[in-house]
Amino acid sequence: MDAFNNIKVDQLVEKTTKYVEENPVAVGVSAALTLLAGVLVFRKGELRRDGKDFDSGLTGGLRILNNNDHTLKGEEFNSSIQDYEGMFQGARQETGAITSNESIEVRRERYAAMINHFYNLVTDFYEWGWGQSFHFGPRWHNETFVESIKRIEYYLCLRLGLVPGMRALDVGCGVGGPMRNMAIFTGAHFEGITINQYQVNIGNKYNAANGLADRCKLVRGDFQNLPFPDEYFDRAYAIEATCHSPDRVKCFSGVNRCLKKGGLFAILDWVMLEGKYNPNNKDHVRVKEGIEVGNGLPTLVTPSEIVAAFEASGFEILDHFDMNRNVHSPHEIPWYDTLKGKMSLGGFRMTHIGRMCTHSMVWTLELLRIAPAGSTRVSALLNATALDLVEGGKDEIFTPSYFFLGRKK
Ligand SMILES: C[S@@+](CC[C@H](N)C(=O)[O-])C[C@H]1O[C@@H](n2cnc3c(N)ncnc32)[C@H](O)[C@@H]1O
Repeated sequence: MDAFNNIKVDQLVEKTTKYVEENPVAVGVSAALTLLAGVLVFRKGELRRDGKDFDSGLTGGLRILNNNDHTLKGEEFNSSIQDYEGMFQGARQETGAITSNESIEVRRERYAAMINHFYNLVTDFYEWGWGQSFHFGPRWHNETFVESIKRIEYYLCLRLGLVPGMRALDVGCGVGGPMRNMAIFTGAHFEGITINQYQVNIGNKYNAANGLADRCKLVRGDFQNLPFPDEYFDRAYAIEATCHSPDRVKCFSGVNRCLKKGGLFAILDWVMLEGKYNPNNKDHVRVKEGIEVGNGLPTLVTPSEIVAAFEASGFEILDHFDMNRNVHSPHEIPWYDTLKGKMSLGGFRMTHIGRMCTHSMVWTLELLRIAPAGSTRVSALLNATALDLVEGGKDEIFTPSYFFLGRKK
């Protein structure tokens, strides 16, 4: 098992190591700064999490997987990443390995552990690099990254017709970034569910810090078995979350049960695009599997499979289309552009160079035993999958923002 893991880590870090070799000055400077900061802040610390971002201060990155909010302790990080990787045996070594029925079945059976491990490990990286909304969105050429993230959330509000007095369910709510933006925008009430306790703790902390605790609440639970009464919600939505589901019909049927009659359910989901993704093309399969292993997915499917799941769960489909259908129009900035590495001061931490700096920082912190063992593997996993997302987006075989709208019959 160790030998297997070592090979896999070698492969995962290959690209990042190459960058380190080619850019010794940039990496050296960031490692030296990290060392200096590490000496200054050598112990596990309190994160601000004061309602703004993860921690906008200079030392925020030092708290990745190393802060008092975290529900995992010491050795648990390393055993989590090992168990997680074990569910993707052969990934990135042999194309097709994790597309076999047997491999998908392992992740369908063990989905709860897979998702929980994944979000225990990546939540800090996402917050640090991306913000409190863990999703993508189409971006107009004159929009900032944050404007584009909020625009897609407001678009959901529009299509759901959310108004004050309504109660909405956020299926797979992350740390609640979208629900807070949508609550401020609409005046409606929101309850979100995530399988990960760390996200519940953080999200409710942010709700209170933003004065939204009376209208926004996160609970821990499994969206395959929703813990809400029948006909409790007016509206429901899921943003880049149901791609984790081991059985969408079960998940959507539960949402249907919790909605009032005529209630609307909107989804933004990750899909492989029909007519563009070719399962017989090895490069396409390689990219699909790279996205799956780096994002805790049982397997990616096509839009028509999701439409069928909607219809099998008691919904009438009202609309569905790819929100990135004009991804390469001259008036849009592709959704994956942020990951690609153009130098941008505002969103530096998300860019390729920014991620390499974070990677070398995390590596240094793990070496110094400030960050827990396993942190560098998580960073490498995320960096490798960012490259696959970019490739899938460039080739237009994959989109993270396929929109579906259904009405409870
Ligand atoms: C990519 S994140 C998106 C979070 C949020 N929708 C956002 O846009 O910020 C996916 C979320 O789905 C949640 N999730 C995945 N499978 C779940 C399950 N079976 N039950 C509850 N939550 C789940 C994860 O815990 C995580 O919060």
